[in-house]
Amino acid sequence: MKVLAFNSSPRIEGNTEILLRETLKPIYESGHNVRLFKLNLMNIKPCQDCGGCDDSGKCIINDDMNEIYDAINEADRIILASPIFFFGLSAQAKIMIDRCQSFWCEKYLLKKPIPEGRYGRKGLLLLVGGMKKEIGIHCADATAKAFFRTISVQAHKVMSFLGVDAKGAILEHPTALKEAYEAGKRLVAIQPG
Ligand SMILES: Cc1cc2nc3c(=O)[nH]c(=O)nc-3n(C[C@H](O)[C@H](O)[C@H](O)COP(=O)(O)O)c2cc1C
Repeated sequence: MKVLAFNSSPRIEGNTEILLRETLKPIYESGHNVRLFKLNLMNIKPCQDCGGCDDSGKCIINDDMNEIYDAINEADRIILASPIFFFGLSAQAKIMIDRCQSFWCEKYLLKKPIPEGRYGRKGLLLLVGGMKKEIGIHCADATAKAFFRTISVQAHKVMSFLGVDAKGAILEHPTALKEAYEAGKRLVAIQPG
């Protein structure tokens, strides 16, 4: 399977990165093809709402999204990992998602959704928040849902940890790493039938 993962945190060795690494472990171990994008290191301009993709379903901005468009088209599984910032996804994640407006045009205006592929398309949203307020999860998941459905991922799971704030604090969490490993395993498991 082709597994695409986005680390949307700016913090190197931060909680999102640690959690995502643990999620990817079983996926690497079972030999799947993993493509990881660290969004904070990429040159991605925000959507300009220029209408350039309306008729073609292709974005006319030429930047690092080009690589991501191809990877999204080919992926069987997509993991979006983000810290909760101001009750939502990080800006790094949101900029990438807004640039998927071209997929929205392709799917809903041109009636050409991304094909399901051999394994179907499934998603996983990983969230880490420093506060203990659920609203950050709900807002982030609402945006993630719009993203996943636009790129023809009909179902996604959400795994979130709240009250995890300091850099690396996720390592102190009693179950997070194990839960992340198991979530990764489940994501690439092939359902019988
Ligand atoms: C700009 C900014 C905004 C934040 N807003 C929230 C928030 O709304 N809710 C929350 O639970 N935590 C918030 N936090 C805390 C982070 O979610 C928390 O520190 C998280 O562990 C960061 O993950 P990272 O180490 O992967 O960057 C915010 C942190 C920053 C830097």
